[in-house]
Amino acid sequence: MQQKRIFLSPPHMTGKEMEYIQDAFESNWIAPLGPHVDAFEKEMADYVGCKGALALSSGTAALHLGLKLLGIQPGDTVFCSSLTFSATVNPVIYEGALPVFIDSDRETWNMSPSALWKAFEEAEKNGKLPKAVITVDLYGQSANYGPIIELCNSYNVPVLEDAAEALGATYGAKKCGTLGKLGVLSFNGNKIITTSGGGMLVSDDLDMLAKARFWATQARDPAPHYQHSEIGYNYRMSNILAATGRAQLEVIEERVAARRRIFDTYRNALGNIPGISFMPEASFGRTNRWLTVMLVDYQTGVTPADIMKALQEENVESRPVWKPMHLQPVFEKYAYFPHQEGETVSDELFANGICLPSGSSLTKDEQERIISIIRSLLRG
Ligand SMILES: Cc1ncc(COP(=O)(O)O)c(C=O)c1O
Repeated sequence: MQQKRIFLSPPHMTGKEMEYIQDAFESNWIAPLGPHVDAFEKEMADYVGCKGALALSSGTAALHLGLKLLGIQPGDTVFCSSLTFSATVNPVIYEGALPVFIDSDRETWNMSPSALWKAFEEAEKNGKLPKAVITVDLYGQSANYGPIIELCNSYNVPVLEDAAEALGATYGAKKCGTLGKLGVLSFNGNKIITTSGGGMLVSDDLDMLAKARFWATQARDPAPHYQHSEIGYNYRMSNILAATGRAQLEVIEERVAARRRIFDTYRNALGNIPGISFMPEASFGRTNRWLTVMLVDYQTGVTPADIMKALQEENVESRPVWKPMHLQPVFEKYAYFPHQEGETVSDELFANGICLPSGSSLTKDEQERIISIIRSLLRG
């Protein structure tokens, strides 16, 4: 008989969600607005340490409105981290703009400051600076914001931080999501906390958030009748889902601790096998270890695909590292700046990386099962 399936990053409910959902039903706020939406926004802004937050139907919607707030127009260029999920880039295309992809560095696996520097230099030479830079805090690790923000400030270009995977992670004393002009969070079912689907735009700029709120509710002008002077979107979060999110946010620190523990257990069990290594943690902050990512060198005689197959045979889900955007058929025509001349870090991470089950509800026994499958494969 096949063992119970182990998922990569399944939802982890606290038990308190139903109490808040019940309240939403009893008050009959069954709508994309209501008291739980307001409270979730306030509690999230307090948690990440910024002035305001806007609860939306997805992280992708937050990225889209973020780009609109930064004035992205058709034909503009937007610099964007290449090693990410396509949702980071798709809204650039929605607005008719052109992405320019930036490689990763080895310390963070996020936007390489040296590649970014080269991209800016080239853009300046060509007389066309980007309108925005989208950074990503991949797998819950902050990008190296010191040099990135300094560079962007020197060119007067705003940063949109895609912290979809990084709630609870930090850069120095700051929480991920608050490093740029605008930050994006996701509460998709696989994230560290979930509303089933949902996202947030966070910022200190309350005027920008007010404008995004207007667009997200169909751009209704303040008139007694339905009047529209701009194109709007139906992007707001439901009060029922916000109720779920509030219960989830109460345990964010426990969730970070659990994912970090899971990472440590994998690394302690497998990290001294020659050819096996794990995603580093940069010295400037705390990663939330949303997913544990392991690198498999060719000297092991085994590929990430071999490991994924062995896990799949035992009913365990795992995934390759995100395929970089500059390698995607839909995006390969856009410019790309590698970390160094002849050294493209994200290609290497994609070729050698594997994401292991990392959900905060993963039990010790389940993790032992995963570790022993990998160990026996590596022993040959
Ligand atoms: C890096 C990154 N950006 C954006 C998103 C999009 O978020 P959502 O699924 O909430 O639209 C995700 C995850 O889904 C993500 O991992």
